[in-house]
Amino acid sequence: MCGIMGYIGENNASPIIMDGLKRMEYRGYDSSGVVVLNDKVTCVKSVGKLEKLEKKLKKDIHGNIGIGHSRWATHGGVTEENAHPQHDCKEEIFVAHNGIIENYKELKEKLIEQGHKFISDTDTEVISHLIEHFFESNLEEAVKKSLSLIKGTYGLVVVSKKDPQKIVVARMFSPIAISVNKSGGFVSSDPVAIIPHSKKMVFLEDGDVAVIKKNKLSITNLENEPKYREETEMDWNIEEAQKGGYPHFMLKEIMEQSDSVANSMRGRLTEDAVKLGGLESVEKQLQKVKRVNIVSCGTSYYAGLAGKYLFEDISGVPCEVELASEFSYGKKQIKKDEVYLFLSQSGETADTLAALRKVKNEGGLSLGVVNVVGSSIARETDAGVYNHIGPEISVASTKAFTSQVTLLNLLALFFGRQRELSQKQGKKIVKSLSDLPEKINKILELSSEIERIAKKYKDFSDFLFIGRRYSFPVALEGSLKLKEISYIHAEGYAAGEMKHGPLALIDKSFPTVALCPSDSVYSKMISNIGEIKSRGGRVIALATEGDKQIEDIVDDVIYLPKVEENIIPITFAIPMQLLAYHIAVMLGTDLDMPRNLSKSVTVE
Ligand code: M6R
Repeated sequence: MCGIMGYIGENNASPIIMDGLKRMEYRGYDSSGVVVLNDKVTCVKSVGKLEKLEKKLKKDIHGNIGIGHSRWATHGGVTEENAHPQHDCKEEIFVAHNGIIENYKELKEKLIEQGHKFISDTDTEVISHLIEHFFESNLEEAVKKSLSLIKGTYGLVVVSKKDPQKIVVARMFSPIAISVNKSGGFVSSDPVAIIPHSKKMVFLEDGDVAVIKKNKLSITNLENEPKYREETEMDWNIEEAQKGGYPHFMLKEIMEQSDSVANSMRGRLTEDAVKLGGLESVEKQLQKVKRVNIVSCGTSYYAGLAGKYLFEDISGVPCEVELASEFSYGKKQIKKDEVYLFLSQSGETADTLAALRKVKNEGGLSLGVVNVVGSSIARETDAGVYNHIGPEISVASTKAFTSQVTLLNLLALFFGRQRELSQKQGKKIVKSLSDLPEKINKILELSSEIERIAKKYKDFSDFLFIGRRYSFPVALEGSLKLKEISYIHAEGYAAGEMKHGPLALIDKSFPTVALCPSDSVYSKMISNIGEIKSRGGRVIALATEGDKQIEDIVDDVIYLPKVEENIIPITFAIPMQLLAYHIAVMLGTDLDMPRNLSKSVTVE
């Protein structure tokens, strides 16, 4: 949600920090600030877009040490006073912080009693005053003493003119990546901001306190015990984090799905099975598993729903799917003969991480399907597979969904071949997956046809999305895509539920997007479409090439290449993404960064 960037080295810090903050813009923010240390301290803050901060940051600000922050308001309104970095009474200690300090009110009261003057409504400001309170001569010691009093979550960076040749960093439930190399020391809450300077970085773990100097990194815990954190090499490059000629990241990410899906499968398919190096350590345990429990949020949850059909159909293993935000607070018993599979693009979603920790605390076996290498969920799961799709920048998830469903296919095949799935059946699934990138290319060519349909429907204020079995999760995902980037009200339903309530909504002002592949439930879908048409509803259908019947009963059809059922959630999702995208473009929303949303939801 918020973004942290810090630099210490021989170069001028403020352009490096601004570049890092811009690369994290996609995460969502409403204010920002930078502090640079020189012989004097310059702290500049602004409300709104980073361009405003950049204008205020005069070019002649020089200094080799600095930290910056983009803030998404939680405690206190969107004002310059509440923007980070926050400082102490004498403006000598500066803190940028992601997370929430739960006991900030009581700490603030005590600090006020001691004479500290607060100027913001933020929880973060207590950290700078606490550090001021404890500071003797060494910044990290004062930070550690302060953190020992703090309850809550933090990824934080601290600089001080009283101990200037360092950035002190700490982590508790909020990600921090650090790279120290010949160009200096870089710290950020998001690897994407460090990638231009180095692909190699370390990720702090909870309880770590790091001190970054120009060419040195040391990590300890609050008890001063040294900690070694291995360097991770990211498989991302700078181009992947740029628009590459597209008007929006979302369109770029939609258009690269043929490659991203291929990358997720690369080196993993054999003729009739799948090789997943990331599962080797738990392969024997997985053989005995009696149930798969998928836990995730948002789009990753909808991918999980597709996973249920895949696991049950391909491997014969029962599968349950639960929202991470519900999973953590129920009385659900964690079972030793089941596996818990966490899907997360970012690997940092707070609800998913909390659910994973519940499973781990209760001794359950956990797997991850994660895109961001080195992220918390990737590190904390017992084993897992990476998506390998490069950074997903647009808040609206697209290529992560198709990659997740691809990997769920691979996992279901893996489980199936461990059990009763024959070589012949395995071969069929491998074939369906190998053909996929080419089919995706064909679907992407439909973009202008979908744009034409978008133009026809863009002014409707409500939409319904329906599907059955493999296309049901896509109906949910299609409605989420439309609502999050165009702000149009949309609902996703299992088509069989129409008669149980939603049919009452239907009239000519409430169009339905019906996902109607030529699959085992085709005729049932046709009946559902009939029910809508006979009540005056308009229907846009997504159907399989060669289906002539559907043309006569719906208003518009988008034809997609024929695929096996296990592939439907992938191919049918792409036109849904394009439809939402084109409508949002026509409505002029800020679709890469929709209002009120952020890319990585790191608070529960
Ligand atoms: O990083 P994750 O996959 O854990 O994120 C989960 C959701 O926050 C995410 O999919 C969200 O729903 C997207 N904005 C949907 O486009």
